[in-house]
Amino acid sequence: MNNFRRIIAIALTLSAITTLNAQTSDTKQIFIYAPNERAGLHIAQQTNNGWQEIGQLCSSDYGTWGQEKRMYHPSLCRAQDGTWRLVFQINDKSPMFAAAYSKDLVTWRPQDYPIMTTRQCLQPVVFPNPDGTFDIYYKTKGGDKRWTSATPDFRTFTPDRTSQISNDAWLRDTATISGHMYDGCLFDITANELTTITSHFTRQAADWQLSQERMHNDAKNPPVTRPVTATLTVTNEEKAISDKLIGIFFEDISYAADGGLYAELIQNRDFEYIPKDHRGWGATTAWSASKPVVVVAVDPLSENNPHYAVLGNDTIYNEGWDGIAVSAGAKYDFSMFVRCVTADKKQFIIQLVDEAGTPIAQAKLKTEGKDWHQYETVLTAKTTCSKARLAVIGVKDAKAGIDMVSLFPQETFMHRKNGLRKDLAETIAALHPKFIRFPGGCMSHGQGLENIYHWNHTVGPLQDRKPDFNIWGYHQTRGLGFFEYFQFCEDIGAEPLPVLAAGVPCQNSNNNRQGIGGQQGGIPMDQMPAYIQELLDMIEWANGDPATSKWAKMRADAGHPAPFNLKYIGIGNEDIIGTVFEERYEMICRAIRAKYPDIKICGTVGPFHTPSADYLEGWDFTKKHPDLQYMVDEHYYESTGWFMHHRDYYDHYDRSAAKVYLGEYAASTDAKRPNVETALAEALYLTDIERNGDVVEMTSYAPMLAKDGHHNWNPDMIYFSNTDVCPTPAYEVQRLFSVYSGDRYVKSTLKAPGIAHRIGASLVRDSKTGKKYLKLVNALPQPLTLDVNGLTIPADAKCEGFEGTPEEQTIKVKPCPLNGGSILLPPYSFRVIEL
Ligand code: AHR
Repeated sequence: MNNFRRIIAIALTLSAITTLNAQTSDTKQIFIYAPNERAGLHIAQQTNNGWQEIGQLCSSDYGTWGQEKRMYHPSLCRAQDGTWRLVFQINDKSPMFAAAYSKDLVTWRPQDYPIMTTRQCLQPVVFPNPDGTFDIYYKTKGGDKRWTSATPDFRTFTPDRTSQISNDAWLRDTATISGHMYDGCLFDITANELTTITSHFTRQAADWQLSQERMHNDAKNPPVTRPVTATLTVTNEEKAISDKLIGIFFEDISYAADGGLYAELIQNRDFEYIPKDHRGWGATTAWSASKPVVVVAVDPLSENNPHYAVLGNDTIYNEGWDGIAVSAGAKYDFSMFVRCVTADKKQFIIQLVDEAGTPIAQAKLKTEGKDWHQYETVLTAKTTCSKARLAVIGVKDAKAGIDMVSLFPQETFMHRKNGLRKDLAETIAALHPKFIRFPGGCMSHGQGLENIYHWNHTVGPLQDRKPDFNIWGYHQTRGLGFFEYFQFCEDIGAEPLPVLAAGVPCQNSNNNRQGIGGQQGGIPMDQMPAYIQELLDMIEWANGDPATSKWAKMRADAGHPAPFNLKYIGIGNEDIIGTVFEERYEMICRAIRAKYPDIKICGTVGPFHTPSADYLEGWDFTKKHPDLQYMVDEHYYESTGWFMHHRDYYDHYDRSAAKVYLGEYAASTDAKRPNVETALAEALYLTDIERNGDVVEMTSYAPMLAKDGHHNWNPDMIYFSNTDVCPTPAYEVQRLFSVYSGDRYVKSTLKAPGIAHRIGASLVRDSKTGKKYLKLVNALPQPLTLDVNGLTIPADAKCEGFEGTPEEQTIKVKPCPLNGGSILLPPYSFRVIEL
C-alpha cells in the first residue's frame, strides 16, 4: 500500500475507535499528552466528571540538564500485541527525535534518539503497520515532510526519505483537563489495564509518603514517645558474604584531584588552561605579573602541552589553588622545564612569597641550551603561610621559555614522587577501603565523545600526558593518572576498580556541532575496534609481562615492573541503557571476555533505583546475557526517609544473577551536608547490605571528596581546604563498617514491631581472625534497650560508636562501655561491638 493511502486508512481507523468510544464496562478511555514541554508525558482518564489527571508516565531523557530534557508533541500508537510506541520532538535543532517503547505505559524502555539526515525532526507522528513495523513522519523547518520506518522492536530505523503524506497525519485528539484544553492521543484500554496503571500511581504515592519521614522532624511527629525495648535473636546459621563490601568512589569532582588529593601546588603549571575548561580561563589563569604574561607555542616541550611562557627580565607569580599552603621548615621540590630562546644561558630566582610579598623561601636556577631541559631545586619554607605564592623571577633580559612549573611537598603520602597529599591520603587510607573505583563518575564517560576519559592519555611522562577539560567545569592535568591511581590502590591494599566509558559519553552531554547531544550516537562503529583495543591495552598495561608486552613495559619503565593484579573493570557509568549503549557495551564485554576471561566486568544499570527505565532495562539486559558481566553498578542518591523505608531492597534479589556493586549512594536531608541523621540512615542501610552481602559485592559512598569553595555536589564524605581535612559523620560510618567487616553473616532476627525501620542490627564474622562484629543502630528519638538472645556479650567487650542530634554535623567516635546481656542504645546512636 502506498504510504499516503496507508496512513489515511490507519488514521481513519484510529479516529473511528476513539470517537465511537462509548465506554463499555470493560473499556476505559485514556488521554495521553504533555501539559508543557518540561512536564513529560501524562495520562488522564475519562470519568463521569470529565477528564481526570492520573500522573506522569515518563519524561524526556535527551541531552543536557537545563537547556534540554524537553518533550514536544508526543505521539503514541499501540502495536497489535498491545505494546506501546512513543515518539516526540526533543528540540528544533537536532537531527533526531525520541523513540520509546512500553509494555504497559507504566514502565518504559530507555529512550533511543535515531539520527536522521535533516537538521530538525519536528512533530514526529507514529503509526503501526500490519506487518508489525512502524512508520514515523516528521516535518522540517522548511515545511518538508519526511518518513522513516522502525522495526517491530523499535530499535532500528531506516534512512529517512521525503514523504508526500497528507497533513491529516498530524491531526490530534484534544481533551480538557482542569480547565485547559490539550492536544494528545486518545485510546481505549481495558479496565484491567487501567487498574494496573492506577495501582502503580497509588503505590508510587504511598512510597513517596513513607520516604518523607525525617529524624529531624521527630520532635513534631515522634515515632515513639518513651524508651523502647527490642529483641535480637542470634542463630547459629551463617552464610558467606563479600569481603569487599566497603570501598571508595574517587572522582575528580569538586577539585578532588587537581587542587586536592594530587599534591601538586602549582595551578596551570603547563599553561594549558582554555576557556572550554571554564568560561574566562586561558593559558595565564592562576599566573600574574606586572605586565602581560607572554605565552607561545613554537617548538613546544610536547605536542600534548603546546603552550609555554616566555620570560625575560620579568617576574611571574602563581597563586596555586586558592593560595599555596606551606609550613615552616618543610621542604618543597621545585622543578620546571626551560628552553633558552635569545641567549644560551638564563638564570632564574625561584621564591615563595607570603601574602605581603615577602620571600619566605628562595633558590637560584642556572639554565642553558636551546633545547628543553628539566631543572630542579628544593625550597625550604622559613615561615608557615596558608596563602603563599610562587615567584619565578627571570634575571637579565635574555628570554627563555618555561613550562611544567611544579612544586610538590616532599612529604607526600608514602613519600611517592608525583604523589598524593599526605593528610588527605591518610584520611582515605584510614577507611581501609577494600577497593578504589576511579576516575569517576561522569568524568569517566565525559561531556561528549571528545571528552571520554582515555586512560592512555594519563600515563607516561607528565609533560606528555594529555590534559582535558573536566565535565565538572574545570581542568584535568592528568598528573594524577592511571599509574598513580593503581599505585595508591596497592599502597593501601585496595583492589583497583577502573571504570571506563562504554563507547558512549555522558547521557547529559551538550549538543555537538551537528546538534547531536546526550550519548551523541556513541563512538562511531568504525572507531569501536580501536576503542576496544584501548580498553584491552589497559588490562595488558596493568597485568602484562614487561618482557613481552609494550604496555607492561611502560608500566615497568614508570617504576612498577610487577603486575598490578587488576581483577575488575567497570564499563559504563549511569548511561541510558538504550540501543546505542547496548550494542557498544556488548561488543566491549565480548572482547574482554575473549581475551581476559578472568577479569570481572562490572556493567551499569543507570542513575536511579528500581523502577527507573535504565535500571529495569539494565537488569533485563544483564539477565539475558549472564555470560557477559560479573556484577552491575547501581546508583541512588536518596532522602533519609527513603533509606529507612527500603531496608529490604536486596532481600529479594535473584541470588543466581549478577552481583551488585552499589557504586554511588548517599542519604541526604535539606541540610545538604552529612549529619547524624544521614549517617544513621546509611548505617541502617549498611546493616541490610551486610545481610545481603551474598548478592551485594561492593558498595561505595559518593562523592568522596569536596574542596571548600569548589563544591559541584553535596553531600560529600570528606570536606577539605588547603590546610584542613574534615571527615563527616558519613565518613565515620563508612570507616566503622569497613574496619569491622567480616566474610560471614550470622543470621539473626529483630523483634521491634512498628519501629523496625529505625533499628539496625547485623552480626558478621571474620573467618580469618574468628572475630565477630555486632553493629547496632538506634535511629529513634528515645533510648532503646536491646535484649540479645543467642549471643554472649562480655561486659568488657570492646565497643565504640557515636550519638548526637539528627542535625549535628560533627561527631566523635568514642569507646562506649557495655553492661552485659541487654544493651542500652542512646537516642540516635550507632555502636560496633567486637566479640
Ligand atoms: O557522584 C557524583 C556524580 O553523580 C557522578 O559523577 C555521577 O556518576 C552521578 O550522577
